[in-house]
Amino acid sequence: MVEYRQRHTDEWLAHFARRGHRSARPLAAGVEGAVYRLDQGLVAKVWSGRPPADLDLSRRVYADIARHPLSFATPEILDTEVHDGVLVTYERELTGAPFRAEPVTTSAERDLPAAETTALLTVLRALATVPGTDAMRALTVQGDDRPLWRGHTRFPDALAALVRRAARRHGDVLAAHVPGLSAAVDRVVASLTALPDAPVTVIHGDLVPPNLHVDDTGRPTAVLDFGFFTTAGDPAFDAAVTAAVWDMYGPHAESHTSTLTGLFADEFGYPAETLALYQAGYALTTYDLFSPDGSDGHFHWCAGLLRRMASLGNGVSA
Ligand SMILES: Nc1ncnc2c1ncn2[C@@H]1O[C@H](COP(=O)(O)OP(=O)(O)O)[C@@H](O)[C@H]1O
Ligand SMILES: [Mg+2]
Repeated sequence: MVEYRQRHTDEWLAHFARRGHRSARPLAAGVEGAVYRLDQGLVAKVWSGRPPADLDLSRRVYADIARHPLSFATPEILDTEVHDGVLVTYERELTGAPFRAEPVTTSAERDLPAAETTALLTVLRALATVPGTDAMRALTVQGDDRPLWRGHTRFPDALAALVRRAARRHGDVLAAHVPGLSAAVDRVVASLTALPDAPVTVIHGDLVPPNLHVDDTGRPTAVLDFGFFTTAGDPAFDAAVTAAVWDMYGPHAESHTSTLTGLFADEFGYPAETLALYQAGYALTTYDLFSPDGSDGHFHWCAGLLRRMASLGNGVSA
């Protein structure tokens, strides 16, 4: 989902210095925020992009996740402020560093490094042990106008309803790039609704390389940046989305996605057609999040995924 990056500025460094953080310095920049390292194990995230709609809810979700000890750290919001109309969250500094700091994966390796596939298995296996909670169900997926679970008791039904709402947003723009889109939407909705019920666990929804920190040996130390598509749901959804987004734009992106999809199906026993269905669902619900007119890379990535699925008779035509 990574598109544009926020910038660091001297004004913010001066602001943190005035608050007593004299050694503040730029740490990293993502789509939603520029992150500064303060002192005493703290970081500040300046939300110049899209801030979380409900900060208290985000904090409750992070607390719910933290209640289940994992072998890696997850975010904790310690304090917040609004400065010059911009939200700043103060968070504990999480250790490790991303496999690749670049938000757009430019990994040119034909085969994904074993350290990456092992780390992804570790993270997905662990997140699938964190039960879904009311706070997670109360979250709204980006671009949507209501909590995903409102009016629903099953994850696949909630996702199917989101697919319908998202198609009403800018489906005409997407249809120009995906032949037979409206029939595909109907099939995805029908296939989702037909999925069996399953216990729900936390869904991260945006496991791209910058959001996974590892140590020097490649062991996961932290998973961060929940919120883009965070909810309670079928852990197979997180696996499916991760397989799709881990490498979106590299020269071997499609082959990496199919390798990861097959690996997650084998390791976790998720049906391959369910993973393909969830990948179509992800594309149909996020295609317009970075521009309404289809002018960005994420849009074209979603359209490409949907065209390939239709041509394979996979997922969208189930
Ligand atoms: N608490 C933290 N501790 C250490 N590094 C962090 C922390 N929060 C963010 N970062 C670094 O900053 C980058 C961008 O932050 P992130 O929360 O992912 O923002 P965005 O939503 O903009 O992607 C991350 O990839 C991570 O490397
Ligand atoms: Mg991020």
